[in-house]
Amino acid sequence: MSAELENRVAVVTGAGKGLGRAIATRLAGAGATVVVSDIDADAAQAVAESLPGAVAIACDVRSEEQVAALVERTVEQCGALHVMVPNAGVGAPLPLVAMDLAAWRDVTSVNLDGVFLSVRHAAPAIIAAGGGSIVTIGSITATTGSPLIGHYAAAKAGVVNLTKTAAAELRPHGVRVNTVLPGFVDTDLVTSARPAFEQALGLPAGGFDEVIAQKQGRYGTPDEVAEAVLFFASERSAWCTGSELVLDGGFVGSLL
Ligand SMILES: NC(=O)c1ccc[n+]([C@@H]2O[C@H](COP(=O)([O-])OP(=O)(O)OC[C@H]3O[C@@H](n4cnc5c(N)ncnc54)[C@H](O)[C@@H]3O)[C@@H](O)[C@H]2O)c1
Repeated sequence: MSAELENRVAVVTGAGKGLGRAIATRLAGAGATVVVSDIDADAAQAVAESLPGAVAIACDVRSEEQVAALVERTVEQCGALHVMVPNAGVGAPLPLVAMDLAAWRDVTSVNLDGVFLSVRHAAPAIIAAGGGSIVTIGSITATTGSPLIGHYAAAKAGVVNLTKTAAAELRPHGVRVNTVLPGFVDTDLVTSARPAFEQALGLPAGGFDEVIAQKQGRYGTPDEVAEAVLFFASERSAWCTGSELVLDGGFVGSLL
């Protein structure tokens, strides 16, 4: 087993399931002490118990107080912070005209504000530890837009842009900031949105899976995204900062 993150402490938000759980598991497998964080305290605890040396700290990334406390408790309990993965995200499909401001903010407050707060509070701790890495989770929708998820896509475009500013500002301090842009990965986020997409696109039941098969070849797996996050978290990507890595089976790279 690779131990390239030995003696490194990593926080993953939204790590109670889905991509976050896979990322926490991969970073722990590479030797990191992982703080498994989630708004769902029980889910975070269950994942932490499955990983050697991991601890669980509940946090709602929409709350600046809770994000600040997450970083503070990480440093207290684990001694330092080197890697931050602000992964927590939500989606709730709605066309723009049916999306009131509250629905817009339900998504952007987690998917964009939560990333800003995570970067803002993690960066000083990572600098204090002598440098490290922040890996944000974008999405191919950051570059394309998509029906029903205008709030989500706009937030992800914001995340990708925020990543570049953070990379520029933190480069002199030894903190690299990069982003992964996954296509559709089979998690609860996607499963729950599938019927709304099928209805909006006039597809029969199961039709969404066929679109994915045509555009991406197949759904991505959480482990594939976790591997890319490990690349950016580790010194293998020492010369990367402000970079974007698309993982989508070729979806956005081809017109037809
Ligand atoms: N699944 C995909 O196809 C896909 C594609 C591109 C990007 N992403 C991104 O990956 C990330 C994880 O998505 P997923 O598919 O694993 O979703 P998921 O729904 O499976 O898991 C999301 C996790 O985030 C937690 N969470 C929700 N609100 C939170 C909050 N306010 N504070 C802290 N935790 C919170 C949930 O409890 C859950 O454990 C998100 O940022 C998502 O936008 C997912």
